[in-house]
Amino acid sequence: ETVIGIMGAMDEEIKLLLENMEHSEAVAKAGITYYKGTIGGKSVVVSKSGVGKVNAAVTTQIMIDAFGAAKILFTGVAGALHPDLEVGDIVISSECLQHDMDVTALGFPRGVIPYQETSEFPADPELVLLAEKVCRELDVRYVTGRVLSGDQFIASHETVTMLREQLGGACAEMEGAALAQVCYMNGIPFVVIRAMSDKADGSANVSFSEFTVTASRKSHEILSCILDML
Ligand code: ADE
Repeated sequence: ETVIGIMGAMDEEIKLLLENMEHSEAVAKAGITYYKGTIGGKSVVVSKSGVGKVNAAVTTQIMIDAFGAAKILFTGVAGALHPDLEVGDIVISSECLQHDMDVTALGFPRGVIPYQETSEFPADPELVLLAEKVCRELDVRYVTGRVLSGDQFIASHETVTMLREQLGGACAEMEGAALAQVCYMNGIPFVVIRAMSDKADGSANVSFSEFTVTASRKSHEILSCILDML
C-alpha cells in the first residue's frame, strides 16, 4: 500500500491533520516527530519539519527512506508575490526554486544551483491538476505558479519586486524548494499547497501573525480534499 507523506513547517499547519488521523503512532528521528497512521483510511506519514530549507530537506528524505512515502504533499502559508493574490488565496506549485541560491559573483543567474541539470524542481502534473480541481470545486481563489523558497522571511516591497521580476515567483516561503529538490533527487512526486498569510511587504509581520491560523486552515481544507481523491 502506498504511503502519502504530508508535511507542514509549523504547528498551525499540521495540527488539523493530526486531529483527523486514525491509529496514529509517533516516531522520532533526527529530532523530528513523524506520525504514522491513516486519514480517511489512507496510509499517511505526517510531520512538522520546522522552519527553513534544511529542516524541510531532512524531513523529506526521512519520510522517503524511513516511512516509504511515495508521494509528498506540503501544506502551509506563504507570502504573496503575484499581484492578483490576496490574503487567504491559494498558490499551487507548478515548480519550486531556491531564491536565496546566489552564485551571481561567478556569473550564474540568481536562483541557479551551479553545475546541476536544473534548479527549478517541477511539481507532479497530476497532483497539480487535482489541486486545481479541488480549488475550483470549493470556489477558492488560486494561482498555479512558481513557489520561491529561501531562509528568509520576506517583508519588503523591494524584495517582492525583485523576486517577481527576476524569478517570476507567485509566492515566497521557506521550505517548498528544499522538499522539491529532495523529491526530485529521489524521483518522488510532490505538490506544495500554500495559503497566503501576507503580501511579503512592510506589513507582512503583522499580517502573518493575524492570518496564519486562518490561512493554515484554508490550506489544510484543500489538502484534505486532495487526499480524499488520491
Ligand atoms: N511564510 C509566510 N509569509 C512569508 C513571508 N513573507 N516570507 C517567507 N515565508 C513566509
